[in-house]
Amino acid sequence: MTFRAPKGTDDIFPPASLRWRRVLRLWEDITERWGYDLVLTPLFEHTAIFARTMGEATEIVGKQMYTFEDKGGRSLTLRPEGTAPVVRAYLQAGSGGVQKLAYSGPMFRYEQPQAARRRQFYQVGLEYLGEADPGADVEVVELAHRFLQEAGVGEMALELNTLGDAASRRQYRDVLFSYLEGIADDLCSDCQARRLTNPLRVLDCKVDGPRLTDAPRTVDHLTAGALDHYRSVKEGLARRAISFTENPRLVRGLDYYTHTVFEYQSRRLETAHHTLGGGGRYDGLAETLGGSAIPGVGVAIGIDRVLLAAPPDGSARLEAFMVVVDPLRWEEARSLAARLRNLGLRVELAAGPRALKAQMKLADRRGARRAVLVGDGWEAGEVRVRHLGSGDEQEVKLADLPNTLAAP
Ligand code: HAM
Repeated sequence: MTFRAPKGTDDIFPPASLRWRRVLRLWEDITERWGYDLVLTPLFEHTAIFARTMGEATEIVGKQMYTFEDKGGRSLTLRPEGTAPVVRAYLQAGSGGVQKLAYSGPMFRYEQPQAARRRQFYQVGLEYLGEADPGADVEVVELAHRFLQEAGVGEMALELNTLGDAASRRQYRDVLFSYLEGIADDLCSDCQARRLTNPLRVLDCKVDGPRLTDAPRTVDHLTAGALDHYRSVKEGLARRAISFTENPRLVRGLDYYTHTVFEYQSRRLETAHHTLGGGGRYDGLAETLGGSAIPGVGVAIGIDRVLLAAPPDGSARLEAFMVVVDPLRWEEARSLAARLRNLGLRVELAAGPRALKAQMKLADRRGARRAVLVGDGWEAGEVRVRHLGSGDEQEVKLADLPNTLAAP
């Protein structure tokens, strides 16, 4: 073949796409049940949207953005994340008040590609806007927890920290700056510069971060209000029996966070890319974009990673493939398939009459769990059902067929 997908990108193709569809559907279901409306924003935005909100000194803005000039001379960027675009859309819609918004789609970052680090990757996310109450932070963490559990990622860890409000951050920044000044010579070459432009980023550094065990902690430099907020979040999580570890070095790779920050890490993935999802509060973001002070909190989860962590569930593509044994029964088989589909079952049949053997082969190839043989028993209201895995066969009354097919 001449062409392949560009480096760091993937085709989501069957059979892998079966699992994608299920997990994206799960996201749709959960967010809808919790009251989140769908939001869809463009795949590209004015570059300033990301540069201003995520911070010029961050890895993403500095090194990883797909930025280009369009034919009209505008600087545009393929979205590396969804939060800033969603807040931009909220401000643009001028709706104000509380909005709970969920999204999913591809994001773009120019990374060194690995199995779980892609240049185009897929995020599901949500943003709870216009709500300053710590209960919103708890809800976001809890919803992410539910989703990850139901998606089957297995054992995971939740890390939590607070960056405090603007006043706490300013105070902490000064303390951290002085601390880093004292150990400047021991820092890696990147952090020598980061320490001056954005000291918080040093805590995030893969080389230096883990060594800075005695670095000042944000929790020790919070205003009374920020401390209260953090306490409420921790209490809320405890009440919901969501266990977490406090990690004072968790600052996340983006500049817009205030108060709560958190990450879910898989115990099944390599530590280099075991973060399944993360998020936090960003009460100053809307103002950075020129809007009024709109509080917000959200999370984004990487679906590529979720599917690496969750073992294949072995469920079949189709619950049944209709196999027409008596060629005079095509129309009956077709309408039976339609009735079963109306009941929510996944059912398929050949495009037109085929030999029995060809139909059985197709049933197998199409990944059906069972074949429903429409033949002799039809007049008596019966079909023959063959489990394609075990080869077991049984006569089933039409009235019992939906239950039989729904069984594993
Ligand atoms: P983030 O931590 O940059 O946060 O990304 C969230 C998740 O996206 C990561 O935990 C990871 O699973 C996935 N991800 C990120 N980069 C890649 C990549 N190159 N390949 C595969 N997966 C990746 C945000 O994007 C924030 N917008 C989250 C947020 C929402 N904060 C508040 N609201």
